[in-house]
Amino acid sequence: VPTGRCVVAVDGPSGSGKSTVSRRLADALGARYLDTGAMYRAVTWAVLRSGVDLDNAESVTKVAGEVDLKIGVDPAAPSVTADGIAVDRDIRGPEVTAAVSAVSAVPAVREILVALQRQIIEAAGRIVVEGRDIGSVVAPDADLKVYLTASAEARAQRRSTENAADLAATAADLARRDRLDSTRAADPLRQAPDAVVLDTTELGIDEVVSRLRELLTGRRPGQ
Ligand code: DC
Repeated sequence: VPTGRCVVAVDGPSGSGKSTVSRRLADALGARYLDTGAMYRAVTWAVLRSGVDLDNAESVTKVAGEVDLKIGVDPAAPSVTADGIAVDRDIRGPEVTAAVSAVSAVPAVREILVALQRQIIEAAGRIVVEGRDIGSVVAPDADLKVYLTASAEARAQRRSTENAADLAATAADLARRDRLDSTRAADPLRQAPDAVVLDTTELGIDEVVSRLRELLTGRRPGQ
């Protein structure tokens, strides 16, 4: 595996295994880890707390611009604070999950967060970044771009196990978010043309991580 600067972009829908794979890969590479979904979730948390109307793009953008977001990049212990409050647990809750697609569809919110993500990537140098638009927008010059997919059933199964939620409700919620995230005008979930596509429906985490390590070993930028 190459040493020094190395940016890996991991995109894909919810439940595709992005978070687990990205953290494990970062750990194996001795790299930092950035969960951009947690940033959209933390802004959503701040928007909900502020009480502004979710449909008012201007007010939502104002909150996004003013909230003091701190995002930890240790793959062993990722953490997020918003205005000094640890929000790791709250940002995974149903209220934030229900509102995050609306907030992340606002172009000016994305501009703010993409700029912050680029700063974090630049400062880290060696980092695995997961999201929806990392290979296409945030880090188009990444050393490796990965697009993880899995069947809708497998993704719903994984998410409902994680959240101890009802499978049918989780499947419906995932389908709703997939639709919103893929059809929004600003930076929709998209497979970069040069991304390596891996279907994780039948693959174990270890297998996915070791395939990605092989890809990094065998390929350097410019080759
Ligand atoms: O990966 P996640 O489920 O935590 O992401 C939460 C939401 O944030 C998801 O519905 C889409 C949005 N998101 C985005 O628009 N762009 C990203 N780079 C990451 C997440």
